Amino acid sequence: MIGTSYLGATHAICMAHLGYDVIGVDVDAEKVAKLTAGVVPFFEPGLTELLEATLATGRLRFTTSYDEAADADVHFVCVGTPQRRGENAADLSYIESAMASLAPLLTRPTVVIGKSTVPVGTAERMLAFLHEHAPVGNQVEMVWNPEFLREGWAIEDTLHPDRLVFGVTSSTGEKAMREIFASMISTGVPVVVTDLATAQLVKVAANAFLATKISFINAMAEVCEVTHADVKKLSEALSYDGRIGGRFLHAGLGFGGGCLPKDIRAFMARAGELGVDQALSFLSEVDAINQRRRARMVDLARECVDDSFKRRKVGVLGAAFKPNSDDIRDSPALDVATRIHKAGAQVTVYDPAAMVNARRDYPALTYAASAEEAIDGADVVLHLTEWQEFRELDPVALADRVRQRHIVDGRNALDAERWRAAGWHYRALGRP
Ligand code: UDX
Repeated sequence: MIGTSYLGATHAICMAHLGYDVIGVDVDAEKVAKLTAGVVPFFEPGLTELLEATLATGRLRFTTSYDEAADADVHFVCVGTPQRRGENAADLSYIESAMASLAPLLTRPTVVIGKSTVPVGTAERMLAFLHEHAPVGNQVEMVWNPEFLREGWAIEDTLHPDRLVFGVTSSTGEKAMREIFASMISTGVPVVVTDLATAQLVKVAANAFLATKISFINAMAEVCEVTHADVKKLSEALSYDGRIGGRFLHAGLGFGGGCLPKDIRAFMARAGELGVDQALSFLSEVDAINQRRRARMVDLARECVDDSFKRRKVGVLGAAFKPNSDDIRDSPALDVATRIHKAGAQVTVYDPAAMVNARRDYPALTYAASAEEAIDGADVVLHLTEWQEFRELDPVALADRVRQRHIVDGRNALDAERWRAAGWHYRALGRP
């Protein structure tokens, strides 16, 4: 397993759990040391326990040395493909260097399985590279096997995927994949066998669709705001239409994280290179709607403090880009908190899991040890990541801790009536 970040570590642990001998390779010695010691370097429910159990079997180990993985029967490539600084396109340097390190080790027929999210055409290019540079030449098979796991549900999504996609160039590749994933396939998981290009596109198309669905309902929220309609009710009414469905139809502060935002941007950039930029121009609107929600959240908060943040105290509940995660990559919560801080307020943040990451990357913000402490003396409280812990807060008990009872629910997840009954001025995105 080459690359042991979110995707690679989860996949390595789960494959060892399924009974395979797995060696995880990463150039990051600190990550390797942690995983070897049974420490998962990110927050993912259940993964530490599964790591400990699989390490104990002796089937799983981690190393910084590619050489130790040379005799593997198959090589999964799980390295990151972040957004390039200052550009929409994906940074492929990690995948290119992984292939460069792997190629000289391929001395016998082998299958290289790409799982990273890549611009369409990357797999073909990598395969040509391996054929040229591997000692075994064109006896390297390539398969593209996109991964759809969600943070917070990583084990469940890996062990019980809703579909398996195998992008292959020959029946040898397909046979290898059917063997590797036999236990899942036998439980009836649908398998879609495609060419390399389609498999690479499936992943970005899925994320583009999900982002579009979220931005669609957030666009409806914008219309609700000027018509005094309620987007939560609107969304509920839409959800009963089986053709639409209610998942990914929650209006609020919009999407963030390490996948959706950068994947739609990389997809647009790739479409431009391919001369079909018009086909995806709607995604720039999807991105713009998403960004506007953050600005709207700041405006709602500002309205609560008489149009000026100067010398105001703002309590922020949530830092992670979504609940059950410590991931703060492109976090809408920290984006909003930072904008308000820059406008002159003292912003105090609390998150159940993302404090270490938030403190490291956003040192200018103030941090509290609990939700209660974050809102002490606040002029306005902002609910920006919908952790269960925040839904369970008691608005009656909190009422006397704040300077003004203003709460803005950026995730439409709190019980508005309960907060209002406790004397709070409750505002939310897309609702009266
Ligand atoms: C996503 C895809 O779901 C997953 O299949 C892919 O493999 C990686 O990218 P993830 O980034 O873990 O997974 O988060 P996801 O649960 O999809 O949420 C993305 C963002 O959308 C979060 O910020 C979340 O708060 C937001 N969201 C989600 C909404 O604003 N409204 C919704 O209805 C759903």
